[in-house]
Amino acid sequence: MADAKIIDGKAFAAKVRERVGRQVAALKDKHDLTPGLAVVLVGEDPASQVYVRNKGKQTAESGMNSFEHKLDISTGQDTLLALVNQLNDDPKVHGILVQLPLPDQIDEQAVLAAIDPAKDVDGFHVVNVGRLSTGSEALVPCTPRGCLMMLKDAVGDLSGKKAIVVGRSNIVGKPMFQLLLGESCTVTVAHSRTQDLPGECREADILVAAVGRPGMIKGDWIKPGATVIDVGINRVEGEGGKTRLVGDVDFDSAVKVAGAITPVPGGVGPMTIACLLANTVTAACRQHGVEEPEA
Ligand code: GUN
Repeated sequence: MADAKIIDGKAFAAKVRERVGRQVAALKDKHDLTPGLAVVLVGEDPASQVYVRNKGKQTAESGMNSFEHKLDISTGQDTLLALVNQLNDDPKVHGILVQLPLPDQIDEQAVLAAIDPAKDVDGFHVVNVGRLSTGSEALVPCTPRGCLMMLKDAVGDLSGKKAIVVGRSNIVGKPMFQLLLGESCTVTVAHSRTQDLPGECREADILVAAVGRPGMIKGDWIKPGATVIDVGINRVEGEGGKTRLVGDVDFDSAVKVAGAITPVPGGVGPMTIACLLANTVTAACRQHGVEEPEA
């Protein structure tokens, strides 16, 4: 069988960003509205710093206002909550993202709960989680939203397909389950206690891997022709002591069996920030009661 089609997340994300750029231009033009995204980073975790820098850069490139708040690692919960409240009240800010993980002295759930659900562009607030699960208008977490876009592009109509989501995190696994269910897939959510995980995976037309275990899902776990979305970003020791990024799927064996597959890097990763920008446009339009430009 021929190797799988490689789903190019970088090119896909560039298209999403171009669309966002056209929407932002239309909003400025027609409604004098410039969407604004505020990102809050506590501490100096290197991976988070890279994310935040990229978010700021891409937000500005799309024509939106970008606000960055960098707080010291020792920041207390009250200070962070005061900043969140200030951003909730700021009419120039339409989206708020507090970068996770937060230092130990801060209660993550309390901070997420303090964000105005209308500005919660991460889709982590329980109100948005509840809205997504009941099929009402929600802000949807960025990574699963990006995965769904790529899946729809690769597969077309998802209705009736068997899907498996490997991983049950609040950020990816659970919202991915809700989105696939919303597309009328028959969805299994697998996790560390699942019995016969390879057998469960082999049943699936669509496999989304989000477990954080490098190369765990092997080619012979995959149904021939299935579409595989690899959310994992794992840094492993490579040749010559250098590190490299790998996914949760063993790409070399999987590419021989799957029908289409996302690579790591260059698959899901670039889509996350692109969807964050798209969520910010959505949030700004809803806050101002204007229709989202088609662009
Ligand atoms: N840390 C890693 N990914 C994310 C994300 O999507 N949102 C937030 N807030 N923090 C993260």
